[in-house]
Amino acid sequence: MERSLSMELVRVTEAAALSSARWMGRGKKEEADDAATTAMRNVFDTIPMKGTVVIGEGELDEAPMLYIGEKLGTGYGPGVDVAVDPLEGTNIVASGSWNALSVVAVADHGNLLHAPDMYMEKIAVGPEVIGKIDINAPVIDNLRAVAAAKNKDIEDVVATVLDRPRHDHIIAQLREAGARIKLIGDGDVAAAINTAFDNTGVDILFGIGGAPEGVLSAVALKCLGGEIQGKLKPQNNEEIERCKKMGIDVNKVLRMEDLVRGDDAIFAATGVTDGELLRGVQFKGSYGSTQSVVMRAKSGTVRFVDGRHSLKKKPNLVMEP
Ligand code: FBP
Repeated sequence: MERSLSMELVRVTEAAALSSARWMGRGKKEEADDAATTAMRNVFDTIPMKGTVVIGEGELDEAPMLYIGEKLGTGYGPGVDVAVDPLEGTNIVASGSWNALSVVAVADHGNLLHAPDMYMEKIAVGPEVIGKIDINAPVIDNLRAVAAAKNKDIEDVVATVLDRPRHDHIIAQLREAGARIKLIGDGDVAAAINTAFDNTGVDILFGIGGAPEGVLSAVALKCLGGEIQGKLKPQNNEEIERCKKMGIDVNKVLRMEDLVRGDDAIFAATGVTDGELLRGVQFKGSYGSTQSVVMRAKSGTVRFVDGRHSLKKKPNLVMEP
């Protein structure tokens, strides 16, 4: 993969973030998602690559843009697989709360798990804790592993969990152990990435979220030297059949090398609303400002990119509601 693709991908997530951020707090998650998807799709057209969407907005009959199998880019350049989530946290934008992101990940062809649109149980940690967690182990064992690796007391460990009734047993075990808990309404990609940055104050992510989000998180954590483990959680016979067709045993623990193979991958995300790691989009006068992170697994380089975008010079960049 070309190194220069990294910066091109930031342009993609910036455009999606700028457009969806206009919908902040308006209570319209579909509209925010459509704005992000259209903006992202438009910028992809200008990028020198031969991309194929493997994780996207749905199958061709469900999604007009960024559907699975869609070809992206100018058609010249490296042949890559692309995973997108133009707006990760549609409800977050609708309510103007924390940690909505626009996200893209790219890897050499065949290297990303084509995760079906179903649930995945996840556990994720940053670089200090790799090799020490086990998704099949009790919560307390994983907390002990984090505490030991980070030289903290369990009472000082912060675990993020999506606030859902399905996680009541995890939350009870975390409380029993005395850990600190961050219950989030949505956005487990940001939560997974946050485990790899000390300044976010987050040590570990537990719980069930989307499987596509699991693959996106895996690419980010691969670049950051962290770890995620996942298990698909089909909810009905049709989903069980889908796993079988893909040759995935639902009891199998999906590890980093199952989620993203090879030694190279690129991940880019732009904050749509404010989060622990990235500032959200701000608008003032004729400018929009963005903050993004872009990273590459092969080199381990992580860049934070602040963008100031002239909406006068680029009136098409932000699609107004
Ligand atoms: P959307 O952006 O598609 O709304 O997803 C947000 C999200 O919170 C993800 O971060 C998470 O993986 C998933 O939804 C959890 O699903 P559910 O809301 O069904 O519990």
